[in-house]
Amino acid sequence: MRGVWSGRFPYIVQDLHARYGEVVRIAPNELSFASSSSWDDIYSMTDGSNPSAFPKSKTWHGSFIDNSASSVFTKIDFKEHARARRAMDPGFSERAVLRQEFILNEYVDLFITKIRERTAATGNTVVDIVTWLNFVMFDIIGDLAFGESFHCLENAEYEDWMSGMFGSIKANYLTISLRHYPLIFNLLMKFIPAKAKAQMKEHARRTKSKVDQRLNSKIDRPDIISQIQRDEDGNKNELSREEIYANAPLFIMAGSETTVTVLTGIINHLVQNRGSLAKLEQELRKLTAAEQLTLAALKQLPYLNAVLNEGLRMCNPK
Ligand code: HEM
Repeated sequence: MRGVWSGRFPYIVQDLHARYGEVVRIAPNELSFASSSSWDDIYSMTDGSNPSAFPKSKTWHGSFIDNSASSVFTKIDFKEHARARRAMDPGFSERAVLRQEFILNEYVDLFITKIRERTAATGNTVVDIVTWLNFVMFDIIGDLAFGESFHCLENAEYEDWMSGMFGSIKANYLTISLRHYPLIFNLLMKFIPAKAKAQMKEHARRTKSKVDQRLNSKIDRPDIISQIQRDEDGNKNELSREEIYANAPLFIMAGSETTVTVLTGIINHLVQNRGSLAKLEQELRKLTAAEQLTLAALKQLPYLNAVLNEGLRMCNPK
């Protein structure tokens, strides 16, 4: 618990693996595995078809403090999870992403403009790339999930909803650590600061209102929400409104920090490996006009895809 509250838990587990090997006991009834074969053993066949598949842990995946809704992340039951995933999949297919390309382009263009403005104004090229990648990712996924931008790029700052999200993630993580002591859980919960709990409630209320605004609006475009409201054949989706409340913020959490971590890692490696950077630049510069930078064209670039795959391998955020 101390490891989790100090924020050093992943490093502590990593050190334990370095000292004791691929399998380490980290709690009386909890093992940590660090091998590629264990990944398949633990995570495959969890679609309900394999009765001996490992269920998700209630301790780590159980719902947030206020148990009102359940996202795909917190659905423990295989069949329930598979149902929700089937309902969400139309929003994440390759076809769905291609339909959303014009929304992505809008923010990528704004991102480039803002970076250019800053470097031109200050006369130097020092930019906190983590912050700016966060801004562009939050704006993109906010727009795809809530139908409106968070305007981080325009305002060069995080929006209030995000501070609530960061606080909420932290409070949830602290709660997870307390679940390791089920008999005194209720007592230990008193140690979670009242302010953090109140922030979580307020955050849930604001999220619900953002989703309601999106669902009640007349917006007609292929963002994630509209594509999970109707499947590819136009049939009405089976996700309830409560489930959309739970999943919309999950898209933001799951999609922003992950992508930013990989992109930051890639940029870090590229600036330290100038030969690779030059090779990538050469490949990209062959596309001479901005209009040629389409998802379909980028998918065909071998070196770019090698860089992305290597980045996912070396800087995987999960
Ligand atoms: C480099 C980027 C990304 C990486 C490395 C990544 C990785 C992962 C991993 C490993 C999981 C499984 C987590 C678990 O079950 O414990 C996951 C789940 C998920 N991710 Fe991502 N992700 C990325 C981007 C995104 C984006 C952009 C979105 C949405 C806009 C997204 C939405 C989700 C959702 C909704 C889940 C839960 C799926 C389920 O439980 O069935 N992710 N992701």
